[in-house]
Amino acid sequence: MIEVDFVLKKYNSSNVISGSATWKTPSNIALVKYWGKQEPQIPENTSISFTLDACFTLTTLEYKKRNEKSNHFNFEIYFEGAKKDSFKPKIELFFKRIEQYVPFLKDYDFKIESHNSFPHSSGIASSASGMSALALCVMSLEKEINPTITEEYFNKKASFLARLGSGSACRSIEGELIVWGNHTEIVGSSNLFGIKFPFKIHKNFKNYHDTILLVDEDEKQVSSTVGHKLMDDHPFAQQRFKQAASNISKISKALQKGNLKEFVAIVESEALSLHAMMMTSNPYFILMKPNTLKIIHKIWRFRDETNSNICFTLDAGANVHVLFPENEKEVVNNFITSELIQFCQENHYICDRIGQGATQIPNM
Ligand code: PMV
Repeated sequence: MIEVDFVLKKYNSSNVISGSATWKTPSNIALVKYWGKQEPQIPENTSISFTLDACFTLTTLEYKKRNEKSNHFNFEIYFEGAKKDSFKPKIELFFKRIEQYVPFLKDYDFKIESHNSFPHSSGIASSASGMSALALCVMSLEKEINPTITEEYFNKKASFLARLGSGSACRSIEGELIVWGNHTEIVGSSNLFGIKFPFKIHKNFKNYHDTILLVDEDEKQVSSTVGHKLMDDHPFAQQRFKQAASNISKISKALQKGNLKEFVAIVESEALSLHAMMMTSNPYFILMKPNTLKIIHKIWRFRDETNSNICFTLDAGANVHVLFPENEKEVVNNFITSELIQFCQENHYICDRIGQGATQIPNM
């Protein structure tokens, strides 16, 4: 599918006067990282992520038809029950970017209400779950206006719209493993939206765990927008994009064969490559904290001593995602509580696992 396929061409919204839609949408964690993009939100390399479960955003979009089309977007935003005008510019920009595909936006007054299952200040990126939840709500309104759209189109377009809000958000619509970005070996992959990993996933990866250690709950010092931009004239950019493409080929095989050792090696290398890009950009920066490194070394030692398949990955921040298979959950959970939690801010951590994607919550 190409961009024009996502334009709602002729439509009649006169019968859709008012209503609401609510979506519960998970966050995701990239295994092969997206870092570097071109306009409009086209990734420089393919990425693949686990959809999460416990970390989600719950968003309700209320819509009310205006008497006449407005020349600007009319919306109010509430976050955790309080009016949040500081979120308005980001949503305004999102609406501007998606308007050509959902031309009914200025026909309505909107009220957006959002809640996160994880603390906003946890250092966990909420843009993936937040933007995908809003994109799904907008798609629910499109479906009211045009009930003929298929579920497949609905999901693809939701991912396409979410991508225009925040790149990684396009990987938060479905589960369990999502690929975003063209790749010759991944059938159906696209730069425009995320797709489900098209091959059978080995049972070793069923119910995979992700315990998120909250090392630093402060706001990130460098936004991902700035970070992506620094890849534009990064001295190692082309090499990095090639590395990511090759890691997609390798991880695809490991996921199908159930090769946990190979999986661990790729995932950790990807996390460190992402941070290596940050440390070698101009200007350079470091998002890891001393406790991030302490945790990594503890994980490596534990793996050496026990032959566990535990591994870590990192987002654009200091928190550590600890990944491990279902059959190791007891021993790894013991290790986490006895040896790793001490490095978390106020001992905070979140137990999450691979999830099935977004769900619509029926109206009360
Ligand atoms: O979606 P963005 O623009 O916030 O970028 C996300 C970048 C990483 O989280 C670091 C990697 C990824 O693929 O999710």
